[in-house]
Amino acid sequence: MLIHTIEEVREQIKNWKKQGLSIGLVPTMGALHDGHLSLIKKSVEKCDKTVVSVFVNPIQFGPSEDFDKYPRTLEADEKLCSDAGVDIIFAPSPKEMYGEGHLLSNDFLTYVIPPFFYVNKLCGKSRVGHFDGVCTVVNKLFNIVQPDFAFFGEKDRQQLIILKKMVKDLNIPVTIIPCPIVREESGLALSSRNKYLDENSKKDALALNKILFNIKLCYDKGITDVRALSETAYSFLNSNHSLEYLEFRDKDTLEDKEKADDDTIVFIAVKVGGVRLIDNIALG
Ligand code: PAF
Repeated sequence: MLIHTIEEVREQIKNWKKQGLSIGLVPTMGALHDGHLSLIKKSVEKCDKTVVSVFVNPIQFGPSEDFDKYPRTLEADEKLCSDAGVDIIFAPSPKEMYGEGHLLSNDFLTYVIPPFFYVNKLCGKSRVGHFDGVCTVVNKLFNIVQPDFAFFGEKDRQQLIILKKMVKDLNIPVTIIPCPIVREESGLALSSRNKYLDENSKKDALALNKILFNIKLCYDKGITDVRALSETAYSFLNSNHSLEYLEFRDKDTLEDKEKADDDTIVFIAVKVGGVRLIDNIALG
């Protein structure tokens, strides 16, 4: 069932809650791919009812980012969701979520600001304000849908860690279920932004997972020095790549690691032919 208004979702949720049914939420920005479908499948298996939100959230995009050209494929998303057994697709308009505008009016003024220590690094460094927008919209979705479980991909691992912190700090009664990265056979992590890649860049995009899997291989062989592990990356990069970061950080706190260990996540962001891609791998 496709629903566009908060009021209608609330009505349906109220009925389900009355019947004691458990509710799973899969928040997305649409352009659904097999990565999203793996989250949806988990929710459908675990919960009595599954809600998928499809909302390209304007407040998590910077002024020079891809909000306008972000792929919007609601019809195809709706078909995928109904085939997967989703009960509600919640696809609100920006006006439904933020009234007359978050910038232009007083309709929307309250933000959830995640801790500076979690956002002043990795993607938060170049995408200033991005995680304020993510935490704010996810908080709103939690309040609208009141799910028992919410499913997030490990592909956006900084997002996942920040949202877990938000849920803990604000005592939000939802359990976050992390879901593993889904990769193409080539190793490329699935992402809605892969649609922007031309044929050459798609080949070059494989550098991200090659770098990460090679670092994991070196770590498994006993190399723990972060500088030595980082240096193995350069042989995979060419002039079509612009490396934004390659960092070794703690899986829960995002603290910097000087020596890699089993609690380390290696994070990478690279612009490939101008398209910004991210990926990560757990060493443990
Ligand atoms: O990961 C995403 O697609 C988005 O950041 C999310 C969680 C749906 C919030 O808009």
